[in-house]
Amino acid sequence: MKLQLTGKTALVTGASSGIGRGLAKALAAEGVLLAVSARRAEPLASLADEIEKAGGARPVVLTADLSKRGQAANLAARATVALGRVDILVNNAGVGIGGAQHVVGDDAMARELFETNYWSALALIAALVPAMRTRGVGAVVNVASIGAVTPMPLAGHYSSSKAALSLCSETMRLELRGSGVNVFSVLPGPVDTGMLAEFGVVPGADKVLGKMPRGNVAELSRKVVRGLERGQRALVYPTALGFMRHLPTLANRISASVIDGLVDVDDARKLQGGSHGDPLALAARSAFEARG
Ligand SMILES: NC(=O)c1ccc[n+]([C@@H]2O[C@H](COP(=O)([O-])OP(=O)(O)OC[C@H]3O[C@@H](n4cnc5c(N)ncnc54)[C@H](OP(=O)(O)O)[C@@H]3O)[C@@H](O)[C@H]2O)c1
Repeated sequence: MKLQLTGKTALVTGASSGIGRGLAKALAAEGVLLAVSARRAEPLASLADEIEKAGGARPVVLTADLSKRGQAANLAARATVALGRVDILVNNAGVGIGGAQHVVGDDAMARELFETNYWSALALIAALVPAMRTRGVGAVVNVASIGAVTPMPLAGHYSSSKAALSLCSETMRLELRGSGVNVFSVLPGPVDTGMLAEFGVVPGADKVLGKMPRGNVAELSRKVVRGLERGQRALVYPTALGFMRHLPTLANRISASVIDGLVDVDDARKLQGGSHGDPLALAARSAFEARG
């Protein structure tokens, strides 16, 4: 179903950097009034400045740590008060871990990853979708990953959380059929952001990434906005990776043969990613940001 964006309201999580920041700017340019969220207040404030300078309505800044249970529901309540209603929910906040499944297991960082990447998205959906249904209009954008359909050694927890989010989108679409609420599943492949830079710390990951097409935030953001307007159901970006969603078995075989021997699967570390992550991941992130 088509969605007229001008005058709509949106909550964008993970808006302090990368894809979320790009999506916030692209939505604001279409006349969407925003609440932008992440843990870091300063980059959110600079995003609000940037959007206002470009002629958009100044977004409301709402900090939240989505790795903590309860913060997502609280964020939804604050966004609803600040905006009056939330028409569009963009579940974009995400974090990665570098480490083998048998090394990371179910330790605290793994549980926090699932809270951020999956449970918080569900909590926001539960808090905001009922009112969208009542109004008969709305949209949920779940930013998963092409990793949801193809395994990558030493990124298993991340991929599993994204597979859960991706299947959540497919299920919700059936449940919300005819309600006026669209569910838009976004499955990015490699996109130049701080997260991708820190993934390069995993030994051999740079060689795998070197064999894949790479996208940029501005183009992905434009495609998401157009998709929202058109009522699109799913987007794989870069487009060349689209076959992976439709033919996952073939994609797995190709990936396994491409990856074979490139990633050091004996690497025994567990590396926490994100702006609050390990020094090694943070250094890679800073080097990316310094490049501009
Ligand atoms: N870049 C890629 O190649 C790629 C590929 C596939 C999917 N994705 C997905 O795209 C989304 C955006 O990632 P990105 O590449 O733009 O990376 P990014 O620049 O690291 O952005 C991640 C965002 O999530 C927020 N976040 C992380 N942990 C959080 C927490 N505990 N509470 C609240 N916010 C939190 C971060 O804000 P704070 O640090 O300020 O909290 C940041 O705004 C993620 O879901 C990611 O999995 C990215």
